[in-house]
Amino acid sequence: MFAVYAASQDWDDPLSGLELGDRPEPAVPEGWTTVTVRAASLNHHDLWSLKGQGLPADRLPMILGCDAAGLDEDGRPVLVHSVISTPAWVGDETLDPKRSLLSERHQGTFAERVAVPRSNVVALPEGFSLEEAACLPTAWLTAYRMLFTQGGLKAGDSVLVQGAGGGVATACIVLARAAGLRVYATSRDEEKRARAREIGAHEAFPSGERLPAKVDAVMETIGRATWEHSIRSLRPGGALVISGTTSGPKLDDAMLTHIFFLQLRVIGSTMGTRAELASLVSLLDATGHKPLIDSTIPMTDARQAFERLESGDIFGKIVLTLD
Ligand SMILES: NC(=O)c1ccc[n+]([C@@H]2O[C@H](COP(=O)([O-])OP(=O)(O)OC[C@H]3O[C@@H](n4cnc5c(N)ncnc54)[C@H](OP(=O)(O)O)[C@@H]3O)[C@@H](O)[C@H]2O)c1
Repeated sequence: MFAVYAASQDWDDPLSGLELGDRPEPAVPEGWTTVTVRAASLNHHDLWSLKGQGLPADRLPMILGCDAAGLDEDGRPVLVHSVISTPAWVGDETLDPKRSLLSERHQGTFAERVAVPRSNVVALPEGFSLEEAACLPTAWLTAYRMLFTQGGLKAGDSVLVQGAGGGVATACIVLARAAGLRVYATSRDEEKRARAREIGAHEAFPSGERLPAKVDAVMETIGRATWEHSIRSLRPGGALVISGTTSGPKLDDAMLTHIFFLQLRVIGSTMGTRAELASLVSLLDATGHKPLIDSTIPMTDARQAFERLESGDIFGKIVLTLD
């Protein structure tokens, strides 16, 4: 079957290991099923895999892709929850120490077909296209958990979202506004700041600029480039929720004195549970919001999509489609 996969890894030139071509049909273990992929969204995770982060070289070649929407074995439209926990695990799937995402241990979703545990297949929510649904399981689910589970934010609270254009960041802006929060965003780019306001930010500022008021929480996916500003933007007792480090994980200054003196909380967040996925869909349904798609590109042109993601010149999700 046709697939987009990592054949090799290179930290400095990740796209050199990207291959498009024929791969074997996925193995379907007991309790698993096959989904025919129609749409799959690109995540920074796919670039990390090509760089050699989170995907050991001995698992190559590996079909990339965490998210998928398509048809189940009976032809019903479905989406795939990407967090694969061990069969005996009970409770929050993200806390299973042996959990993985599709494309880490098991072949990913950038292919004609993907094998997943039956319990990871979710009926397509009403009113969502397959392209929109393909944005939900990673970026939008991560944003939901960051804001409401890990951040504990509620209507009337204030939040700063760093790096307005990213898949997780755009989701954070839309969801935070939908839930009645005061939303600030930053971006290095004026056009993205304008778009951040259009999708729900009350105000958007150049990266690093002082905010008009300290916030209850910061949603951080950029890491090194924005860490100091994130810490400085929090009110005493505020929370920095981090799920990614696009600009790098090594900090010049971790701002430890600020953290203890202002009693800040630094909280990690990864993906989300199936129950959170259902709550995310309910929130979108109740508020009429839809995942924000930057562009839809045929999977056969996946290289072009990866180049856009790598350049950072995006606003929302890039979705790969298959007929
Ligand atoms: N833990 C999890 O479960 C999980 C799930 C999803 C994503 N992630 C991680 O979260 C991060 C975000 O992923 P993503 O797919 O949403 O999008 P992404 O492609 O990493 O985000 C792009 C955005 O990052 C900002 N950015 C990049 N480099 C920057 C720099 N040097 N300085 C300031 N801003 C910079 C840009 O914002 P502006 O151009 O607007 O300034 C850009 O719009 C990734 O590191 C990803 O691995 C983690």
